[in-house]
Amino acid sequence: MPKKIYSLYSHFYDSLFGTLLHSGRCIASRLMDIQPGERILEVGIGTGISLPLYPRNAEIIGIDISKDMIKRAGEKKQRLGYSNVKLCITDASEMAFRNGYFDKVIASHSIAVIPKPFETLKEIKRVCKEDAEFFFLNYAGSNDNLVARFEKALSPIRCRLGLGKVIDLEELLYSANFKIDFKDRVNIFKLCQIIKCRNNGV
Ligand SMILES: C[S@@+](CC[C@H](N)C(=O)[O-])C[C@H]1O[C@@H](n2cnc3c(N)ncnc32)[C@H](O)[C@@H]1O
Repeated sequence: MPKKIYSLYSHFYDSLFGTLLHSGRCIASRLMDIQPGERILEVGIGTGISLPLYPRNAEIIGIDISKDMIKRAGEKKQRLGYSNVKLCITDASEMAFRNGYFDKVIASHSIAVIPKPFETLKEIKRVCKEDAEFFFLNYAGSNDNLVARFEKALSPIRCRLGLGKVIDLEELLYSANFKIDFKDRVNIFKLCQIIKCRNNGV
């Protein structure tokens, strides 16, 4: 399902979700505070919309299950002249990277869309160093009870549109043994959340 729908989205994803989600991506980038030489994994990199926010002196690996999204990301990489970026078509719930490879991981608006989020979180932990830092941006829904109920009712439609389920990301992170260090609401009407966390054991 994500492959098909994101093949379609690849044509207009940036126009729809570029400016709308930009401030959250910038906040995530500042929080990540990427240091020279660090190895960074972006899970569900899509069209590479975050590429301009990465430094050129770190190794960036972006993965996505959609060939067409990766193709767009590749065009952007080329245009920006980023020789430190590698892009791979990979399922995030079954990555081929070796254990303990990455220093930091970001999943920006992808965990709710990935069909196996729990397995993906376990994989993310596996491919990272023990002291790695993890950053998640995700649609969190409204704080208002009434609006939240309305959003829940619309959840099946969101899924069909490939926008993912409204998930309780914090709950999911706890169940996969992540320790949350920082969280905040971001983007328009504070509808999204940014979470920074660490490994809390196996
Ligand atoms: C909503 S887009 C997010 C794009 C970008 N990271 C952003 O900040 O806007 C979600 C991306 O997750 C990808 N995706 C869905 N399932 C996946 C999986 N199992 N493994 C890797 N990527 C996946 C989709 O193809 C899509 O490009």
